[in-house]
Amino acid sequence: MAFTIALAGKGGTGKTTMAALIVRALRELGARSVLAVDADPNSTLHEALGVEVERSVGEITEEMMKSTQATPGGMSKDAWLELNVHRYVVETSEFDLLSMGRPEGPGCYCYANNLVRGCIDDLSRSYEYVVMDNEAGLEHLSRRTTRDVNALLIVSDPSVRGVRTAGRLNELADELDIGIDSRYIVVNRVDEPLDPMLARAIEECGLPLLGTVPPDEGIIRCDLEGLGLLDLPEDSPALVAARKMTASAVPALRQATV
Ligand SMILES: Nc1ncnc2c1ncn2[C@@H]1O[C@H](COP(=O)(O)OP(=O)(O)O)[C@@H](O)[C@H]1O
Ligand SMILES: [Mg+2]
Repeated sequence: MAFTIALAGKGGTGKTTMAALIVRALRELGARSVLAVDADPNSTLHEALGVEVERSVGEITEEMMKSTQATPGGMSKDAWLELNVHRYVVETSEFDLLSMGRPEGPGCYCYANNLVRGCIDDLSRSYEYVVMDNEAGLEHLSRRTTRDVNALLIVSDPSVRGVRTAGRLNELADELDIGIDSRYIVVNRVDEPLDPMLARAIEECGLPLLGTVPPDEGIIRCDLEGLGLLDLPEDSPALVAARKMTASAVPALRQATV
């Protein structure tokens, strides 16, 4: 079973950026196979990873639901989707990416989601690591059935209010029926040492601090030039921070940066 790292946090805090940096960090630390899952309906992970996605799982599912044509060989729609979902995984030498997107039509959303979830469960089994970029809430995580999250990283901006929001998201996670082994807060776009007020808010938020990520010119450049974060220089401060955090969040990699 893959070790699953999921990113959560309010919009704009840096979830997608962190997800992409973690994918890169995992590979640099020796991970053999990584599946990145873009579970945000407003997909941007492919951009952060610098790849194109032809069609999202949502679109494939939507087509299948609308189709009045019989599935080939009369197979069930579930089996059909399972067979097809693999075809929409974008494969690169460094990672694979599955973009969930969103089924357009109302009505079939729940059924489609259940199917998709099952397929991701199956798919993840063939990877060593899964990195899931999520939308702002956590609700869709609870729509997952069989798979649990090994490390949940709640990303916050460097404000006291932001950190408290991360703390509340953590409480929300308690109410969901998902198993989460470890949870952490990651404070993005801040230089150390932290302001004592911010440091105090972090201590009080109920989540251990996995690490901080400095504001990084390189990330801004990549964004402006339409490049993925795999093009960031090796010594980019945010990447260095991501490597350290990845190594501490993943027990099997803990030795890697020592
Ligand atoms: N450490 C950082 N330094 C500079 N820019 C950053 C940093 N983290 C995120 N950004 C930028 O901030 C914006 C929002 O980040 P993003 O990862 O898309 O947030 P989210 O996925 O939480 O909505 C993006 O334009 C991203 O390039
Ligand atoms: Mg995002």
